[in-house]
Amino acid sequence: MRNDPGDLSVSIRRLDWTPTMLVVEWSDGRRAEFASIWLRDNVPADRDAFSGQRLIDVADLPASPRIRRAELRAGALSVEWEQECAQACFPSQWLARQAAALEDPSERWRARLWPDGAARDAVRDFAWATPGTMGADPATLADWLRRLIVEGMAFLADVPTEPGTIVSALSPIGQVAATNYGLVFDVRSVVQPENLAYSDRGLGLHTDNPYREPVPGFQALHVLVAAPDGGESLFADGFAIAAALRQESPGDFEQLTRTAVPFAYRSRDALLEARRPLIQLSCAGEVIAVHYNSRSIAPLPFAAATAERYYGAYRRFAEMLRDPRFALRFMMRAGDLVVFDNQRILHGRTAFIAARHPRHLQGCYLTRDSVRSRAALLAAGPEGGA
Ligand SMILES: [Fe+2]
Repeated sequence: MRNDPGDLSVSIRRLDWTPTMLVVEWSDGRRAEFASIWLRDNVPADRDAFSGQRLIDVADLPASPRIRRAELRAGALSVEWEQECAQACFPSQWLARQAAALEDPSERWRARLWPDGAARDAVRDFAWATPGTMGADPATLADWLRRLIVEGMAFLADVPTEPGTIVSALSPIGQVAATNYGLVFDVRSVVQPENLAYSDRGLGLHTDNPYREPVPGFQALHVLVAAPDGGESLFADGFAIAAALRQESPGDFEQLTRTAVPFAYRSRDALLEARRPLIQLSCAGEVIAVHYNSRSIAPLPFAAATAERYYGAYRRFAEMLRDPRFALRFMMRAGDLVVFDNQRILHGRTAFIAARHPRHLQGCYLTRDSVRSRAALLAAGPEGGA
């Protein structure tokens, strides 16, 4: 098998350079190109030795630095630039890691889509752990977090069903973030609910709180009391549905990515409003977030001439969310806890009868960066965080 250029076992076999470009040939035959300005911007001596933070600004660099000389010294790359005294030394392993990142910066954590939700089995096809196994073994936690990020959803079992346990169960996973619903919110049926989640109605697939800034990154739901009939959980991969829409109705997909939709929430203690597209793209055109919550979409601010076109795309997406092929159905038991990416995985539930069975879940939101940070630190190993 050919080595990954990020593999620390590769070394530099050959160097070619011009004043503006340097070409490295690795020991496995692969090549990487580095611009002179990029190398000059990454001179190790321009970073603080302890924190690794950059000491200079791009405006401190020569506008068009030209390489005067480049050579290999003891396996490292040594570079000198014209009209500068400084000499930079780039460790070959560092360059190899950068080459891998330049090729595909996000490959390691790339989403693995599951368009076949109805054919999936929550127990068989997603990561499961218990608080005990997660706490005892960093490798179990590392793998669980990796799958949470790649698949968008993962589960814990045997979480004690005392109220509030969710907070300690989530402590190895990320930072819990408080909102106007509190640090922990109770999902159970109440009289005159401020949010229809706090009723016994069925809820169609949705993401939570698109009216908030930032939108909650990950969501956790812990079942304290399960309803024996009804209250089945529904999950679907919004990225997979967006990909299907992009393929089947590219014009509708474009409408949804280019139009900011107003979302709003009002209660006695909060008035929240935000505008965002239902499908959000990265600069590279990749789907990076899905925001869909029919309960909190405010009146759409469209002129009559454009409303019909948008409504067509909006309706098409809503119909796809009702398509049973995408939805995984799962009856969670007391003690089960699900964590999912709230900007990717849509969730919902079937109706239940609160008067007969007091279904009770507790929920929390986790910040997106803290979960990814835990995953990255564990993947890097004990030395990686330094
Ligand atoms: Fe929800």
